[in-house]
Amino acid sequence: MFTLGILISSDKGSKGERADESGRVIQEMMEQQGYILKKYTILPDEKELLAAEMIHMADELKVDLLLTSGGTGFSKRDITPEATLTVVERLTPGISEAIRYNSLKITPRAMLSRAISGIRKDTLIINLPGSPKAVRESLEYIIPHIAHGLEILK
Ligand code: MTE
Repeated sequence: MFTLGILISSDKGSKGERADESGRVIQEMMEQQGYILKKYTILPDEKELLAAEMIHMADELKVDLLLTSGGTGFSKRDITPEATLTVVERLTPGISEAIRYNSLKITPRAMLSRAISGIRKDTLIINLPGSPKAVRESLEYIIPHIAHGLEILK
């Protein structure tokens, strides 16, 4: 069994101005696979806040998998990949390439995703796009394969 952290990057969501549907999709899909949710939080699109939370979930909560959603597009405030880059020690580009490869078959706009992924200590961090639809499409494709990587990381 693997433990899970969910970090939503959303200015509106963090102020309670928008219901966090994407986070619920992540939780539901991952709990169905047996992942144990350790923390689920929503933060504004602020690089330092996002990076600090990633460090907390990786170093203190020691989650096996940390999934982020939102902040990967072109909006001026979108900053999740840059926050992730400051905390990961090793990149795992194949995971983000796979997400984009699959998503491009659904919408060419997937090319606009700047999402990255990588490893910090024992934690795999993966950026997912912000919409519930995109989250579902991304997770469906990678879920069957990431467990193997997590096993090796343990
Ligand atoms: N990936 C999938 N599978 N399905 C989608 O609908 N939308 C794209 C892309 N990836 C999409 C997708 C769009 S429109 C954008 S702008 C980027 O993800 C970034 O999303 P974000 O800004 O919500 O993080």
